[in-house]
Amino acid sequence: MAKKKTLFECQACGFQSPRWMGKCTSCNEWETMIELSSEQIKFLKETSSSNSTGSMLSKAKPITQIDEDNIKRFSSGSAELDLVLGGGIVPGSLTLIGGSPGIGKSTLLLKIASNLAKTNKKVLYVSGEESAGQIKLRANRLDANHDNLYLLPEINLSSVLSEISNQNYEFIVIDSIQALYSEDTPSAPGSVTQVRTITFDLMRVAKSLHIPIFIIGHITKDGSIAGPRVLEHMVDTVLYFEGDTNSELRLLRGFKNRFGSTSEVGIFEMNKKGLHDAKSMAGKFFNKDKLHSGSALTVVMEGSRPIIIEVQALVSEAYGHAKRSSTGFDNNRLGMLLALLEKKLDLPLGTYDVFINISGGIKINEPSADLAIIAAILSSYRDRELSPETLFLGEVSLTGEIREVSGLTQRLKEMETQGFSKAVIPNKPIEQTDIKCFVADEVSKVVEWM
Ligand code: TYD
Ligand code: MG
Repeated sequence: MAKKKTLFECQACGFQSPRWMGKCTSCNEWETMIELSSEQIKFLKETSSSNSTGSMLSKAKPITQIDEDNIKRFSSGSAELDLVLGGGIVPGSLTLIGGSPGIGKSTLLLKIASNLAKTNKKVLYVSGEESAGQIKLRANRLDANHDNLYLLPEINLSSVLSEISNQNYEFIVIDSIQALYSEDTPSAPGSVTQVRTITFDLMRVAKSLHIPIFIIGHITKDGSIAGPRVLEHMVDTVLYFEGDTNSELRLLRGFKNRFGSTSEVGIFEMNKKGLHDAKSMAGKFFNKDKLHSGSALTVVMEGSRPIIIEVQALVSEAYGHAKRSSTGFDNNRLGMLLALLEKKLDLPLGTYDVFINISGGIKINEPSADLAIIAAILSSYRDRELSPETLFLGEVSLTGEIREVSGLTQRLKEMETQGFSKAVIPNKPIEQTDIKCFVADEVSKVVEWM
């Protein structure tokens, strides 16, 4: 008797193996391998063989003889989104927008859809999550009604594809990928096989008809797109929404971009009438008049823009095992800074709980805020307020040395604009500035300025 073929697939990354494993060897996730049914295995075989034999044989050419793609981008009607995308929407591109529930993904894309509809583009908004009536309500709030904006509440992929092929849409939003369902694939909506098939079909539509498609994807608690990582590999651009749903500010960060850099960040404000480009970031993330002990100010670069933010620390005596916890800042880095403070300044922090929070739901991704974190910790430990006129800037090394930061001139300019007068920085500024600069190249020296 022939042996029954078995195949297991990782629900996080799509890796396949003939044997079950507790931990996926490809993405290191635990307990994500599930057994595929014989129907699913047959489907996979069919699709892979049709992919390899269906296309014509193509020949390689010297790169010097190849013409570059002439990309003609168009504006999304939102300067912030255009910035993150690298200068506007690229026809035929597939963009994934991820973010936690309620952060504003549907709101932003409905607004963008209507912006484009108003510039005479025919736009399709596919919603598998909300009814047409619900979306209409939102459209009323956003002032997004337009004859060129078409709604399709549908979860069946083949209906969506036939709608797309029968009409000449110029922009499409899919809300959301996890809600769509392909009948051709014998697995549940949201599973790796489903998401892979649907994304592949959408990609084919986008590339062959030159229609830009924006896909909304839900994210899990750890911040990755729910379930399948495969999605991130397949699409051209991946953007993530960040921010605290309780505050009105939202950051849209580029994570992958085949048509531009990922260094820029879009900044939006949520209000009663939807999500708007934030006019000015200045002063949103700090309150100079109310600087308590445990708070320190610094300037971080969000893309090409400097933003002044407040970092907060709470140092309190520990009962039992000392806790270290941070929101918006790397916990390992916090551990390193605390160890350094113990060693260099002889602070008995091992018997204290330390909590760090970054205001406005911002996540700090650069080391230049180290010094401000240290200042905040010291301020909370001593229960003494820092001067609201002073900003702290510098990367701290394992040896306690304070390293230079990039874009110092730009950061100092922003401080000047915001009316600050003093800064503790790691190196002398090259350009003339009105800010009184204290140069500190060692952690122990910073204490002098506090
Ligand atoms: P939504 O776009 O539905 O989030 P997502 O699609 O990412 O899950 O946004 C939901 C939140 O946005 C909701 O909690 C209310 C808020 N909101 C406003 O504050 N103003 C508005 O005009 C709209 C449409 C939503
Ligand atoms: Mg939504």
